[in-house]
Amino acid sequence: MEIRRVGVVGCGLMGSGIAQVAAQAGLTTVVLEASPALLEAGLGRIRKFLDGGVAKGKVTPADRDAVLHRITGATDAAEVRDCDVVIEAVTESLKVKRDVFALVQSHLKPEGILASNTSSLSITEMAAATARPGRFLGLHFFNPVPLMKLVEVVRTLQTEAGVEEAGVAFVRKLGKTPIRTSDRTGFIVNRLLVPYILDAIRAFEEGVGSVRDIDHGMTLGCGYPMGPLTLNDLVGLDTTLSIAEIMFDEFKEKRFAPPALMKRMVTAGFLGRKSGRGFYDYSVEPPRPNDFLAGRPDAGPAGRGEA
Ligand code: 3HC
Repeated sequence: MEIRRVGVVGCGLMGSGIAQVAAQAGLTTVVLEASPALLEAGLGRIRKFLDGGVAKGKVTPADRDAVLHRITGATDAAEVRDCDVVIEAVTESLKVKRDVFALVQSHLKPEGILASNTSSLSITEMAAATARPGRFLGLHFFNPVPLMKLVEVVRTLQTEAGVEEAGVAFVRKLGKTPIRTSDRTGFIVNRLLVPYILDAIRAFEEGVGSVRDIDHGMTLGCGYPMGPLTLNDLVGLDTTLSIAEIMFDEFKEKRFAPPALMKRMVTAGFLGRKSGRGFYDYSVEPPRPNDFLAGRPDAGPAGRGEA
């Protein structure tokens, strides 16, 4: 089954990126949101990214216009009826996602594939709650979606072989590299990435190094494009916390346990870039380590922010 028409539910950070790359690959794309205001915000995000691409000389104005033309925004779930695949990218709540799939499957043609962009919830649990568990996949994209080349294709015990292959071919059509994984919490990437980020926070908590020095350690010492604390700010501390809690619940291993500092930061609203402050303060350019971290008594001299 070839995927030509794509539905995306949710036009937030991930959903808007998925809709954008589908349209950039020449596919007709419908993106569904709960309200016109949320839809407008999401479509605005796509427009802004494409405008950035034009300014950088990566996208021609004609291509930008064609991409936007291929995306239809909708608030009525019936609009996805003719899609070959519908990918949900809504909030990380099993209940919310199940509700989305119940709504979508009542409109979607019988052969249409359902997919979730979840980073940590069980694909099997979502699939089993639908009327078509054999035609259900995980398609896990990475942030920022238009720039990151990887998508994890997650099968369950019930996924039909042709459906996994259709998912792999779809990812290739998007110009991205698929990797196949079974439905274990965190899949491949977050299983390795999340303990690494949590360890960076623990190192900071123990006063091993400052925010900047921990990040420089991994960018300049290991060639990573971003340090772990900068990356955590990009992903969102609330998102990492939720993934860590689900992974800890599944594996009961200390390496997945969220550090106390991260829990407190989320409660305090220091969520990273999305709230303007996380390990760094984004109200200044370039961002500087968040002031409150420099004053932490348990961070030691290394917690004062600068090398
Ligand atoms: N349109 C088109 N191209 C654009 C663009 C735009 N609006 N903005 C940037 N680009 C291009 C640039 O021109 C550049 O292209 P080039 O390599 O050909 O020169 C490339 O994209 C990189 O852009 P920048 O030079 O502006 O930025 P950086 O070099 O700083 O890279 C980054 C940015 C790609 C985000 C890089 O820092 C990175 O890879 N960071 C790590 C991100 C990461 O690890 N993400 C995964 C998070 S985990 C996750 O998502 C899983 C979830 O479950 C938690």
